[in-house]
Amino acid sequence: MSDSRIAGLYRLGVTERIRKLRELGWLSESDASRLLGGYQVLSTETADRMIENVIGVFGLPLAIAPNFLVNDRGCLAPLVIEEPSVVAGLSHAAALARRTGGFEVSNNGSLLIGQVHVRGVSDPDHAIEALENAKPELLEAANAVHPRLVARGGGVRDLEIRLFAFPDGAPLIALHVLVDTCDAMGANLVNEICEVIAPDVEAVCGGRVALRILSNLADRSLYTARAQFVLPDDVRDAIVTADAVAQVDPYRAATHNKGVMNGIDALAIATGNDWRAIEAGVHAYAAADGHYRALTRWSVADDGNLLGEITVPIKVGTVGGTLKNNPAAELGLALTGARSAQELAELMAAVGLAQNFAALRALGTSGIQAAHMKLHARSVVASAGAPDDVFDDVVTKLVAGGEIKDWKAREILDELQPRGTAAVDGSAAGKVILLGEHGVVYGRRALALPIPGAVRVSLAEAAELAHDLPGEFLEPLLDDLGIDDRGWRIGLDSDVPLGKGLGSSASIAVAIARAFNSRLGLGLDDERVNAIAFESEKRAHGTPSGVDNTLATYAKPMLFSSADGLEFDEVTLPQVPPLLVAWGHETGRTSEQVAAVRARYDSSPARFETLFDEMDSLAADGAGFLRAGAWQQLGASMNICHGLLNAIGVSTPELERMVALARSAGAAGAKLTGAGGGGSIVAICPDGIGAVSETLRQAGYSTLLFGGAGHSMTDQHRIVSSESEELILVDRNDNETGYMSKADAHDGGGVLHRAFSVFLFNEQGELLLQQRAHGKRLWGGYWSNTCCSHPRRGETLDIATSRRLRDELNIDADLEHVYWFCYEAAFGDTGSENELCHVFLGRAPDDIRANDSEIAGLRYISAEELENEFEKRPERYTPWFRQEWQELTSTYREQLQRYCKFD
Ligand code: MEV
Repeated sequence: MSDSRIAGLYRLGVTERIRKLRELGWLSESDASRLLGGYQVLSTETADRMIENVIGVFGLPLAIAPNFLVNDRGCLAPLVIEEPSVVAGLSHAAALARRTGGFEVSNNGSLLIGQVHVRGVSDPDHAIEALENAKPELLEAANAVHPRLVARGGGVRDLEIRLFAFPDGAPLIALHVLVDTCDAMGANLVNEICEVIAPDVEAVCGGRVALRILSNLADRSLYTARAQFVLPDDVRDAIVTADAVAQVDPYRAATHNKGVMNGIDALAIATGNDWRAIEAGVHAYAAADGHYRALTRWSVADDGNLLGEITVPIKVGTVGGTLKNNPAAELGLALTGARSAQELAELMAAVGLAQNFAALRALGTSGIQAAHMKLHARSVVASAGAPDDVFDDVVTKLVAGGEIKDWKAREILDELQPRGTAAVDGSAAGKVILLGEHGVVYGRRALALPIPGAVRVSLAEAAELAHDLPGEFLEPLLDDLGIDDRGWRIGLDSDVPLGKGLGSSASIAVAIARAFNSRLGLGLDDERVNAIAFESEKRAHGTPSGVDNTLATYAKPMLFSSADGLEFDEVTLPQVPPLLVAWGHETGRTSEQVAAVRARYDSSPARFETLFDEMDSLAADGAGFLRAGAWQQLGASMNICHGLLNAIGVSTPELERMVALARSAGAAGAKLTGAGGGGSIVAICPDGIGAVSETLRQAGYSTLLFGGAGHSMTDQHRIVSSESEELILVDRNDNETGYMSKADAHDGGGVLHRAFSVFLFNEQGELLLQQRAHGKRLWGGYWSNTCCSHPRRGETLDIATSRRLRDELNIDADLEHVYWFCYEAAFGDTGSENELCHVFLGRAPDDIRANDSEIAGLRYISAEELENEFEKRPERYTPWFRQEWQELTSTYREQLQRYCKFD
């Protein structure tokens, strides 16, 4: 039997959890693959054969509570439930019970009761006597209904008779047929037996049969579970008191028993059992003495331990019923390790007791709401991207503040990791291959786009080297950079996860090289940084194509050609394409995928050559479609390319599912991107990126959006600017003199270009400040005025300001132009602002939603507080903001006073 003790399951990702359960032998290879591919669930076709008027299937989370020890048998509890805290509570309770020997469970039998109700008997005593006398014949008739059940060792064990009276005094006889249904729940078997013997019963006792059906009050299948817990006295006593309350107060007992059923129902659903039947039986049993009570009994044992006991009627099955049809139920049952219906019922009783323990313990200590809040806080903190080292601190502060909100988590994160003023030292782009991966290894072309600023690295001096990266990755990289003194803490902040085909390892190498370059003045130019990252890629992946490090370094859309060494042509984009990247739970290893393709190539080179030729021409055509903004054609090419990648064997069920979901939600094209074998897809969505993103997110995948025409304005992670967009160069009188990419216009001392700066105020006259996203090349993490950016080539200030307010803050606002001025400011060696900036004032609407790829935080501030801040902590604010505020409060005072109060 596999070990059910699994520490830290909650810390793993879904894929790792599945792999862990496979490794420990709880999952078969095929069940693990089904879970990884998301194919464990019931199909709509099968569902349509189960009930009427089906239109789909409905999902709920399936989770595992490990650690159970029941009658010395290690078990896992698979649970289907949407309520947070139940799984965590059960896992913890099972681990605690295990310390004192686990759960001991016994039962009074395993019989299901069938009932035949007879009314209209003239002499009930005589009828009962006749039934008693006819027992042998009735038993024989009953057992003849299912000879195969009898052959399996089951069958009708006994008949019992109960007498009732209707309110008018008329007698009612209930004949109980007690059936051992073996490992089946047995509802159909018992119903059939009742139906078959009903005419004989009627004949024996006279009267008329009213009903012939099983009873869900399964009190001939009672399971009693016991366990002990070592607890502090006050917690132990609080549980005993809570239990005593639920013995006397039916209103409390209902909630108390609901907690019990949180566990039992979740396990019943996960194993394909009829949880309504169990619910009905349990609650009827809870009122067996005429007073609805708690199902549990908690007391203090002689040695001071807390002693818990629960008795519940449980009649479940491990064969037949839903199990036959529902693959998820079969998988759930396998996970319990139960070899019989009896063992499953034992686990259920233990789960009921454990769940009650967890609930009472939470109620008796911090309160259930606090536990829920903490769990909710953990998920908010995770989505705010808190790294492991500060994760728990952020959760604690978030819970203490009582406001469990994403923005609050980010604010706390900024406090704990003061990156705001300690700006990012080095950043690099991620990459997404639009067309031609793998072909590029065979001398063909590939088309790739950067994910600008996807990885940020900050450095802090430290006693010794501190980082979260694999040593074998970092140490040689530092050697290549010639860093001998390793007293550095390397902080990494990345939008692109590792192993998902988005070039993160190359990005990390480039960002680290740049960070040390800017801190230590190593004098590395981009060419050298690129070469160092390429070496790092070779160590990580064997024979990399060089695409990832090049994209990470130069952050430009490129058509690569590898026919004659790696060459690249920059592809200029007319606008940011409406692209979305999504990644799943599986992780692919580039070196393994490249090697596997090589092996397939070797066994069929001619065919593979044809496929690679096709990829090559798709990539070349794709560059044309990209330049022309021909998104539909680009999508069609991506679809074909995905088919080719599938043909060379690098797709997986999960990637196929993601591609299918993206297309079904309206993407014009979707394909896997990168090496495959797990990882990411890229989709192009000219008809709306929001719906596609939402569909993928709801299916449990992560998405990163590039923005573009028709995008949803509510997306908070949309990438709305790119280093390659073209800005308008001007002379010092604001006459246009040409165009230049954003990246080039900010390099070195910068080239004078047109810009704008917007100040929005609320009705109270407070100014809306934004904290710039940490990944920004210049002044990332600094606080600034509401919104600043540039008109793009061909854009008026009007269009550019409204585009930017929508993209960054999801708002429209009327703006008043106040003045323009020129300024220059350098941001270390990273680059400079050299701008002719137009300043606008306006009123902020109420409903503002920040795009977190641009904005790290928002807050309102009064003029007085702002002046204070400028005096005390000027280094937190951008230079242009301080300059503009100074000018507004002196030269343009009257205009400013229309929006903002100040003396
Ligand atoms: C919530 O689903 C269940 C509890 O209310 C049970 C109880 O109060 O014992 C926490």
